[in-house]
Amino acid sequence: MIELKGICYAYDGNPVLRSINLSIGKGETVALYGANGSGKSTLLKLINGIIFPEVGEYWFENEKITPKLMRDHKYSKYFHQRIGFVWQNPDVQLFCGSVEEELAFGPEQMGLSESEVNQRVEDALKLLGIEKLRYRAPYYLSGGEKKKTAIASILTMNPTIWTLDEPLSALDEQTKTWLTGFLLELKKAGKTIVFSSHDSNLIKTLADRRFDMN
Ligand SMILES: Nc1ncnc2c1ncn2[C@@H]1O[C@H](COP(=O)(O)OP(=O)(O)OP(=O)(O)O)[C@@H](O)[C@H]1O
Ligand SMILES: [Mg+2]
Repeated sequence: MIELKGICYAYDGNPVLRSINLSIGKGETVALYGANGSGKSTLLKLINGIIFPEVGEYWFENEKITPKLMRDHKYSKYFHQRIGFVWQNPDVQLFCGSVEEELAFGPEQMGLSESEVNQRVEDALKLLGIEKLRYRAPYYLSGGEKKKTAIASILTMNPTIWTLDEPLSALDEQTKTWLTGFLLELKKAGKTIVFSSHDSNLIKTLADRRFDMN
C-alpha cells in the first residue's frame, strides 16, 4: 500500500531523512518513533504527498508519487480521499470559518450529495462530542477542541489510510483514552494507520510494529 524505498530528504542541505526503507501493508498499524527533530513529521508529510523525496522513491498503491502526479488534479483528489492526515499542529490544518464548514469541506470536495454530507457532519460532531462547537470559528478554539475538530474533519472523508502526527498531544486524559479507543476501532475496521508518537502506552496498545527513526 505504502512503499518507501531509500528515501532521503534535507531542509536547506541539512539531511533529515536518511535512506528510509519502509513498507506498510493494507490494514497495518505502524508507529513512527524517535526523538524530537528525528523527522517523524517530515516523513508523514512525505507520505501525504506534501513534500517529495530528493533521493529514493515513494510508491502508493502501485503509483510512484511525484510532484508531476500530484499536480494532476484528478489524481491528487483521489489520493487525498484515500489518505487522511491529522497534523501535529491543528492550526495548519483548520482553515474554515466554522467547525461545521470544516467538517463538510472534505465530503463536499468528494462530490457527495448534500444529505450525505450533512449526515457525515452530524455523525462526526456526535462521535467527537463537539456538537456545541458547531458554529464556532476553529481559530479561537482551545488546543484540544482544535484537535477534535481536525480529527472530525478527516473522519467525514472516511479515508482508507489514516496518518496522525502525535495524535494524543494537547488532549486531556479522558480524551486521550477516548481517542485511543477510537483508533483501535479504526484498526478493527481494517483501516491502515501510520502515526507518530512519544507515548509508549499508545504504541504498545495500537501499533502492530514500531519504526525507529534514528
Ligand atoms: N520547514 C522546515 N525548514 C527547515 N527545517 C525544518 C523544517 N521542518 C522541519 N525542519 C527540521 O527538520 C528536522 C526534523 O523535523 P520534524 O518536524 O520532522 O521532526 P519530528 O521528529 O517530527 O520532531 P517532534 O518530535 O519535535 O515533532 C528538525 O531538525 C527540524 O528543525
Ligand atoms: Mg513532529
